[in-house]
Amino acid sequence: MRHFIDTSEYDRSTLEAILTHAITHRGERCTALAGRTVALIFFDSSLRTRTSFAVGIAQLGGTSVTLDVGRGVWNLEYLDGAVMDGDKPEHIADAVRVLSRYFDVLAVRCFPALKQATEDAADPVIEAFRRHATVPVINLESALYHPCQAMADIMTIRERFGRTDGLRVALAWTPHVKALPTAVPNSFALAAVQFGCRLTIIAPPEFRLPDVVMARLPGVEVIADQAALADQDVVYAKSWTSLENYGAPPPAHYRSWIVTPEKLGRARFLHCMPLRRNVEVTDAVLESAHNDCYDEAENRLHVQKSILLHCLHVI
Ligand code: CP
Repeated sequence: MRHFIDTSEYDRSTLEAILTHAITHRGERCTALAGRTVALIFFDSSLRTRTSFAVGIAQLGGTSVTLDVGRGVWNLEYLDGAVMDGDKPEHIADAVRVLSRYFDVLAVRCFPALKQATEDAADPVIEAFRRHATVPVINLESALYHPCQAMADIMTIRERFGRTDGLRVALAWTPHVKALPTAVPNSFALAAVQFGCRLTIIAPPEFRLPDVVMARLPGVEVIADQAALADQDVVYAKSWTSLENYGAPPPAHYRSWIVTPEKLGRARFLHCMPLRRNVEVTDAVLESAHNDCYDEAENRLHVQKSILLHCLHVI
């Protein structure tokens, strides 16, 4: 069974084949998923993921059903052995087994609680889906990974430069009003290295990535100096939580880490979105010719169609 939970579970040639299919078949309509059904299960909000998957499945001739957990669908307990006398009437182990009887693919968004780093590092919700599903599971962003986003990121870089190998790429921490998950930066960093980019992480010292991810990024330089942004081919901007003050909003003095045209220099600008204008990045960057984040958002649609076809052994 082909799940798509973390790009690190695939070798580069398989990921390249998915990307090549997405680039070759971008925008195509077909009937490859005729008669197939996909559950889009959301524990959390979304604009791009929710709509790009629904549209992509329709373009492939399939049917999607969107389920919002806790809003029209029972709230789901995910802790093993839980005594379920609280406000969650159904256990994920039961729900996933039932949904596997109805659908050909289960696609799941489940953010971390951002309360305990150790619990989030176990990625409990997506791993419960992996354990109990009898059909492929696609990760729409879990506590640790956002592989569909990372594939769209790499597709955007490859289309812009014609290659990924050897490009200088920075994962750049940005200020924010809230603590955010590490899933996007984790998956981008892992995929950038998988695709041969020369990755640098530029972030204040307390905003390192989780050990479970850094262990798979040998040799990646981590620096706390935004002067290095201007030396890059691509700057991938994103905020994420501190591991020391896990789940706490970033201190206000880090507002100076906002990305500006002057800091960006000649680099292309990527961000997974949603983004906080004039907190993470200035309007001037977003309205400039350096901004590739709308192409990046569009590529979610194209590459996810290829991921679905891969998971269902169509390609
Ligand atoms: N980048 C991304 O996953 O966007 P949404 O949260 O809007 O789906």
